[in-house]
Amino acid sequence: RILILDFGSQVTQLIARRVREAGVYCEIMPFNTPVDKIEAFGAKAFILSGGPASVIGEATPRAPEFVFESGLPVLGICYGQQTLCHQLGGRVETSDHREFGRAYVNVTDNCILFDGVWEVGASEQVWMSHGDRVIELPDGFRVVASSEGAPFAVIADDERRYYATMFHPEVVHTPHGAALLSNFVHKVAGCAGDWTMGAFKEQAIRQIRDQVGDGKVICGLSGGVDSSVAAVLIHEAIGEQLTCVFVDHGLLRQGEAEEVVRLFGDHYNIPLIHKDASDLFLGELAGQTDPEAKRKTIGKLFIDVFQEEANKIEGAQFLAQGTLYPDVIESVSFTGGPSVTIKSHHNVGGLPERMNLKLVEPLRELFKDEVRELGRELGLPESLVGRHPFPGPGLAIRIPGSDITREKLDILRKADAVYLEEIRNAGLYDAIWQAFAVLLPVRTVGVMGDYRTYDYACALRAVTSTDGMTADYYHFDHEFLSRVSTRIINEVRGINRVTYDITSKPPGTIEWE
Ligand code: XMP
Repeated sequence: RILILDFGSQVTQLIARRVREAGVYCEIMPFNTPVDKIEAFGAKAFILSGGPASVIGEATPRAPEFVFESGLPVLGICYGQQTLCHQLGGRVETSDHREFGRAYVNVTDNCILFDGVWEVGASEQVWMSHGDRVIELPDGFRVVASSEGAPFAVIADDERRYYATMFHPEVVHTPHGAALLSNFVHKVAGCAGDWTMGAFKEQAIRQIRDQVGDGKVICGLSGGVDSSVAAVLIHEAIGEQLTCVFVDHGLLRQGEAEEVVRLFGDHYNIPLIHKDASDLFLGELAGQTDPEAKRKTIGKLFIDVFQEEANKIEGAQFLAQGTLYPDVIESVSFTGGPSVTIKSHHNVGGLPERMNLKLVEPLRELFKDEVRELGRELGLPESLVGRHPFPGPGLAIRIPGSDITREKLDILRKADAVYLEEIRNAGLYDAIWQAFAVLLPVRTVGVMGDYRTYDYACALRAVTSTDGMTADYYHFDHEFLSRVSTRIINEVRGINRVTYDITSKPPGTIEWE
């Protein structure tokens, strides 16, 4: 296993993704993690990430001395290279030749990192992002790749097994970066590359059995990927000791509630409590239009209903949650100030304490695409495993600016279903991060046949993204948009106008509220 020490780069998680793709388990810890915790992790090598700081100022972040005292291999990336050089006796200065974005480096010497990838004499594309640069190498190092702006683009000390790059090998804009990282973890660190989803599954099942013993576990199902994979995994581990609770708030998409019941109750035969609480939710939401108020109402009701249903399961001691690795990575913050809440995301926070249950979180070491992979390993259908993210408050935040009623929900569901069907038929579903319809609070005039219509307008949204933090609208061709528009207006009573949202995030957000 590999330990990545984080200096606050935006792309540190990508290092972890690449290392795991190479079949090697790794974790990320902040650079200032206490040494005993770092030591206890038992890494075979360290990777020092990039970061926004400068090594030149005083009190700027450093790698723990343990890293260099351990005798283990080290790979420094960007800021990681600078602090490695600085700490080992080299010199770093602020450069007047800043390089950001795509750059080319010349491979000047052989290096184990380049095996099978880069050859001496080649010019290779990399992705740079740095202000400071190394001007004098520590003893023992040689340069193996360089460019005019980056004379120490890649440096190596084979004896101590220290390597460092000025660029980011973890991003896709460094086309062979993944192979360089793979060489580091396999050839330098000697990791076997046997960390597969099949192996993870077996290990996770053992851990769940150890933790739970003969206790009873409750798992909330939402219809999404994470809770579904967690449920099936836990069921495989402990069978009937698991009961799932599915609180249907009436704000799901077309056919979704039925699918949950069919798949988990009928197909997997998992004991399932299906609570149709739509009257309660819609009753409480009546008259509410403020996005945050709606989220609070739904979040609170959800906890109340879930708790009431879960209390029916006698003697339950554990609550399963589909927490993922990005939720548990401790982040490195250099700004320290409070960040502004753009939208509060409702989840079941606070539930385990209220119900006095211990948590079972079998996915807390996994990234989202690894959870999908695990789902496939467990035999879950592709339509569920590859599903777009869907917000907890559901369609309630896709009817902005007006009262939420069953009638409007039905109209929205139909339009959304037509849109998604066309996206699937066109083979575009997997290229899109999220796609959905929004029912607008305006009625507009139209003409159908000889009749005047006065119906709702709807907006279609589709975005590409890697993590939901930033997004670009999807560039459909006009033929596609015309087809969807025609179908929605012909097939969905209540809508007579369709618009397409071409706002990116930022400045927009993915959802309309
Ligand atoms: P925004 O709209 O903030 O969305 O750009 C980013 C991602 O978060 C989802 N989202 C939510 N998920 N509860 C959730 O569980 C919420 O209240 C919520 N609001 C937005 C959104 O669908 C997108 O994937």
